[in-house]
Amino acid sequence: MERKKIGFELLIYENENELSQNDQKLLRDAAKARENAYAPYSKFKVGAAVLLENGEVVIGNNQENASYPSGLCAERVAIFHAGAKYPGVAVKSIAISASSSKHEVGVPAAPCGNCRQSIIEYEQKQNTPISLLLRSEKGPIYKCSSMADILPLAFNSSFLGDS
Ligand code: THU
Repeated sequence: MERKKIGFELLIYENENELSQNDQKLLRDAAKARENAYAPYSKFKVGAAVLLENGEVVIGNNQENASYPSGLCAERVAIFHAGAKYPGVAVKSIAISASSSKHEVGVPAAPCGNCRQSIIEYEQKQNTPISLLLRSEKGPIYKCSSMADILPLAFNSSFLGDS
């Protein structure tokens, strides 16, 4: 029997001034995108901003639906938007910003499992890490350097046996 511990390094910033100018801007872009989220049912708004290798920033926000499962999270709207607009251009980092009109969200909201799976597909395709910046309305900023860190043992196309 072999025992293996899998962990990752999470950077926690109490103040945005501690971040690089680029990271600060990307978080601001995500917070701005959040304002246009369509979340009449959950009242939980999320914005995501994707920074690409070519310097472009592509945004997304959650889009809900009266038929609840038909809606989509901000992160997937953003990453699919990036894939549609700039196919083949590597993604460097994604900032995510969340807020609720029902209560104060003080802890950074991390991407759901489906979004992690969708984003890691891009990380594996481009073979370079995608870093994540997370922040809610208040409280600390979390940064981690790769999607694989928060989705260990991920499913990927190699299991399908086609390549
Ligand atoms: N949501 C996101 O946009 N991203 C996440 O990572 C978690 C949840 C959205 C989906 C839904 O519109 C609302 O937040 C409540 O789950």
